[in-house]
Amino acid sequence: MLQLGVNIDHVATLRQARYKAGHEGMTPEPDPVAAAAEVEAAGAHGITVHLREDRRHIQDADVQTLRKTIRTRMNLEMADVPEIVAIAEALKPDEVCIVPERRAEVTTEGGLNVAGKSLPRTIARLRKAGIVVSLFIAPDLKQVRASAAAGAQFIELHTGAYANARNKSLELKRLVAAAELAHELGLRVNAGHGLTYQNVSGIFPVPHLETLNIGHSIVSRAVFVGLRQALTEMLAAMKGYPG
Ligand code: PXP
Repeated sequence: MLQLGVNIDHVATLRQARYKAGHEGMTPEPDPVAAAAEVEAAGAHGITVHLREDRRHIQDADVQTLRKTIRTRMNLEMADVPEIVAIAEALKPDEVCIVPERRAEVTTEGGLNVAGKSLPRTIARLRKAGIVVSLFIAPDLKQVRASAAAGAQFIELHTGAYANARNKSLELKRLVAAAELAHELGLRVNAGHGLTYQNVSGIFPVPHLETLNIGHSIVSRAVFVGLRQALTEMLAAMKGYPG
């Protein structure tokens, strides 16, 4: 069954729009920890958070509390930078997904360029700490091969280009080819970014998918119907994946 990891960064973005250091008299709301509990109660299979270097949404205190409260799986998205690698090593989330990070971006825009010396070392270090390691890559066969060579267990296929494309068939073909090659190379496959209630069933032809990480669409829907109902609707939209 295709699993759903819920990205709750967007809940923290709303909180950070108002709550700052020096505003301790304010209630820091909405609370991403409460949001995680709510989506888990509605059937989410995992919780995803991105501790960015610039701490623009999720804060250090959030990940520490979430590590204790998450009952499903904690997936920490992170850049391959020494400060955050050390935090992950001590925190021991169930999984990390290594992503590229640029300060000026609105969200994670591209996939990782896996070539390079630091990544295999970081992957080995995190795996030694008992953490499952995934790499967030574009559906590019070169990056899939490099991910296997670097020692990752999973890739997360970046579905942003698929989501943004008016004509989705070319992007879908790239996702299918990347998932097939990953599977052949012994990698497990997740996907995410830009998936919505409307476009999620369009990726059903992509084989070997285990988890979809979805955030913005679910949190947007929750503004109108609440997190539990938004979750139920996304789980229903994901039903029918042939896996
Ligand atoms: N997966 C990764 C690696 C991401 O960086 C993000 C965005 O934070 C997501 C999934 C979820 O994307 P969205 O919020 O567009 O559903």
